[in-house]
Amino acid sequence: MVGLTSWQALKERANLRAGQKVFIPAGSGGIGTFAIQLAKHLGATVATTTSTGNVELVRSLGADEVVDYKKQDFEKVLGGYDVVLGTLKGAELEKSVGILKPGGKIVSLIGPLDAAFADAKRLNFVLRFVFG
Ligand SMILES: NC(=O)c1ccc[n+]([C@@H]2O[C@H](COP(=O)([O-])OP(=O)(O)OC[C@H]3O[C@@H](n4cnc5c(N)ncnc54)[C@H](OP(=O)(O)O)[C@@H]3O)[C@@H](O)[C@H]2O)c1
Repeated sequence: MVGLTSWQALKERANLRAGQKVFIPAGSGGIGTFAIQLAKHLGATVATTTSTGNVELVRSLGADEVVDYKKQDFEKVLGGYDVVLGTLKGAELEKSVGILKPGGKIVSLIGPLDAAFADAKRLNFVLRFVFG
């Protein structure tokens, strides 16, 4: 599940390419541990956040820049990102907007299904209306 989700988000939705910068918060989580490795495989530069005890874990997975969220605010030290993977909700997701470069993308894994999902799945009119 984490592999499929990471692939759909980073490759199919964000079209992450070699040389781009991606921010993957919560790098020690189920999604994070897989997504970091996939992003590195795609040739991207990866930044992540984690708590103090997991800093070495996420480095071992290939993260280029690691922010210990117990000690630092990521939005103060990161910038110019092409893609953000939305693994955390609320204020964390909103703060991510500020580290994107113009034209950058956030692909959120949080929240309800929306009209874009209904379109992509070619659902009928009623379901498109409901999701919208
Ligand atoms: N797992 C899936 O297949 C899947 C699929 C679709 C969507 N999602 C969604 O994706 C999100 C992440 O899922 P997950 O399975 O990766 O969760 P998870 O395995 O429970 O991982 C959560 C991680 O969040 C970290 N964390 C908590 N607060 C943080 C903060 N303020 N900043 C940075 N990291 C923080 C923790 O890391 P530390 O121990 O370092 O604090 C923990 O490792 C969830 O909202 C889930 O609903 C998951």
